[in-house]
Amino acid sequence: MKFGHFDDANREYVIETPRTPYPWINYLGTQGFFSLISNTAGGYSFYKDARLRRITRYRYNNVPIDMGGRYFYINDNGTIWNPGWSPVKTELDAYECRHGMGYTIITGKKNNLKAQVTFFVPQDYDGEVQQVVLTNEGSSDKTFKFWSFAEWCLWDAQDDCTNFQRNFSTGRVEIKDSTIYHKTEYRDRRNHYAFYSVNDKIDGYDTDRDTFIGLYNGFHNPQAVLDGKCGNSLADGWSPIASHFKEITLKAGESKTLVFVLGYVEMPVDKKFEADGKTINKEKALAMIEKYNTPEKFAAGMKELRAYWDKLLGILNVNTPEDKVNRMVNIWNQYQCMVTFNLSRSASYFESGIGRGMGFRDSNQDILGFVHQIPDRARERLIDIASTQLEDGGCYHQYQPLTKKGNADIGGDFSDDPLWMILSVSAYIKETGDWSILDAKVPYDNDESKAKSMLDHLTVSFYHIVNNLGPHGLPLAMRADWNDCINLSCFSDTPGESFQTYTNPKFKAEGGYSKVAESVFVAALFTYVGPNFVGILNHLGKKDEAAKAQAEIDKMKKVMMDSAWDGNWFMRAYDANGQKMGSKECEEGQIFIEPQGFAIMSDIDKDAAKKTLAAIDERLNTKHGLVLNNPAFSKYYIQYGEISTYPGGYKENAGIFTHNNAWIICAAAYAGEGDQAFKYYSEIAPAYTEETSDLHKTEPYVYGQMIGGKDAGSDIGQTEKNFGQGKNSWLTGTAAWNMVAISQYILGIQPDFDGLKVDPSIPANWDGFTATRLFRGAKYNITIKNPSHVCKGVKSLVVDGQAVEGCVVPFVEGKKEVNVEITLG
Ligand code: BGC
Ligand code: NOJ
Repeated sequence: MKFGHFDDANREYVIETPRTPYPWINYLGTQGFFSLISNTAGGYSFYKDARLRRITRYRYNNVPIDMGGRYFYINDNGTIWNPGWSPVKTELDAYECRHGMGYTIITGKKNNLKAQVTFFVPQDYDGEVQQVVLTNEGSSDKTFKFWSFAEWCLWDAQDDCTNFQRNFSTGRVEIKDSTIYHKTEYRDRRNHYAFYSVNDKIDGYDTDRDTFIGLYNGFHNPQAVLDGKCGNSLADGWSPIASHFKEITLKAGESKTLVFVLGYVEMPVDKKFEADGKTINKEKALAMIEKYNTPEKFAAGMKELRAYWDKLLGILNVNTPEDKVNRMVNIWNQYQCMVTFNLSRSASYFESGIGRGMGFRDSNQDILGFVHQIPDRARERLIDIASTQLEDGGCYHQYQPLTKKGNADIGGDFSDDPLWMILSVSAYIKETGDWSILDAKVPYDNDESKAKSMLDHLTVSFYHIVNNLGPHGLPLAMRADWNDCINLSCFSDTPGESFQTYTNPKFKAEGGYSKVAESVFVAALFTYVGPNFVGILNHLGKKDEAAKAQAEIDKMKKVMMDSAWDGNWFMRAYDANGQKMGSKECEEGQIFIEPQGFAIMSDIDKDAAKKTLAAIDERLNTKHGLVLNNPAFSKYYIQYGEISTYPGGYKENAGIFTHNNAWIICAAAYAGEGDQAFKYYSEIAPAYTEETSDLHKTEPYVYGQMIGGKDAGSDIGQTEKNFGQGKNSWLTGTAAWNMVAISQYILGIQPDFDGLKVDPSIPANWDGFTATRLFRGAKYNITIKNPSHVCKGVKSLVVDGQAVEGCVVPFVEGKKEVNVEITLG
């Protein structure tokens, strides 16, 4: 069952009912100011950091769901409604929500009154602009009352939802003309305020929540709206809000347009106030309001936003026989990559914005899907991330976006972290050809005096693995590797201990983690990522160093075959007792997905790769995607940690973790199994799961982190209960990796150090496809022909009429257009 449809021409998903199986959201803003907005206008805004600079308030896990947002209320002679249906939930005569690229349009109709609200955050602008168009579609005059509503957050979202003894006495606002200013703590230590304005005269306002809503009412029945008036209240502590009030009369057929701005302003300390020393200096706010105070200016801003996305989505454009692939690659997957790049894992409807900073491994992987869009921002991000690294190659696992400093609370010793940086820096160089990034001086531990070249950072990353090997010569697992929930040094039996930060005291003497537990996943990642480091060294003419690094990779490959090959797949780990994990010898968790894909792509052993792909298909694949492990753990294994705390079928315990499904898609494609790769791709790609939205639950236009696996419900005697149900949508490495899987491995358009490589691995029944790719200043027009209906194999490559050996289109400086024709066979 579907709840809407894709409008590809407008790059929108059109939601046709407010009662989606879960709130279906969109993101506004790409630089500093961000908003989350659901299909009923729920959500909130923040500036840069969802925890430290929250602008409007939101209550997670509320009952009913998704309460709080920017709401417009209409009282039309006693009929009270919202354009987005919620929170009043009066049945509307018509409803539609269009989520587009950086904007959302919600339209509601009731009793011949139509209200269309468009929300967006303009480019280079710290505010959400909202245009409300009210149209009387009836045949006689209509007089009705209209309110806006937003609830301020007292800046620090964590403090705001816990520290009531203080916060209920601090709230402060100011009102001038049609603008409500939120200035809590501005008098003392803050240099920022927020405001909510409208480009028209108002008939009143409210800024005190209890006056507007009423202490015992809710968002669904605010007292002021019920009474058809406002209180002109001035907030004095408690919960400050902003609500504009207007009485409106429209003739038959007449429309009225209002433009609202919800903005954020920072002021230099010496300019914070007017001459009286207390009234806030509104200069910047007024300039922001002025910028969008007419429908014409609003339209111009929207046009600019569209042009921005035209440009970004014009970099890679494909035309394959599958509309759903085109939709994912050309629109939604790229869009999601931008959002995850910006927000990492901080703020979604599953991440509360107060939990996590930017993840080291997460942000590096996000770059893989984003780097072609705005390479300059990717470069900046790479430098930010690398600046938090430690001198020995170890990494803080997270850093805060506002301070850009490593987060000491969570600390380091996640064994995979350093490798992702080699991968992301390589991806940046392959995309741009900008080798100068390797010379950039980048601090260690944010200390400028410890700055060394980016190449040095990559070198210590590589050797951090080599220098931390266990008894079999495999990398130490440390606190966790990619799988945060395999905690081999935890042995935790006390509730509340964080599996990510707690290590058992018995490992204290050994430096904080077991020197026995080893990760086969990190080994496989090392052999997959390592050749990039070698390629870089070779390019720089550092042949000896390259050979030395290559020898380490070769050694690791041998160790993997000698000590980590289980006969039909690669094992997962050795635990701290030296026992095998992820082996046919285990009672549960015999096979794990994570090491397999990277091992296959490391060309360790052809026969092993074949067997592994077969085992994956047999043991892990389901109609809704590949489960992470099998059989699921049905009890707590203290030696494994968090993974065995989840009921089977959920999260890391045999859930369908879409992030690492992509690694298998890549690997199958790499191994020439285009049909197998495409099967796995389409099992989880949102455009394909749209048809079963009622089961899938989360947005059909973006990936979620997890889909319930085949074991879901087994422990309560309801096996397959939530099998196929999505959770944790939007902010996941799945976005970047599936972008890589489809565009670089299946469609095979893969930036390489020396030029653009084109080596597709597609379903055999495709006749071919075409694509355009902007790459290092030139436009590549790519045509793939598949007359013999194979999956993979470049039989001929013709570049501008000239036959070329291999499958890399050599890069020629200064060329503006390149025609590439490939025949598979
Ligand atoms: C989740 C992981 C997550 C980790 C760190 C665990 O509970 O299952 O997916 O990465 O917490 O936040
Ligand atoms: C989510 C985390 O953000 C990511 O870093 C991790 O790899 C996965 N969970 C798997 O545990």
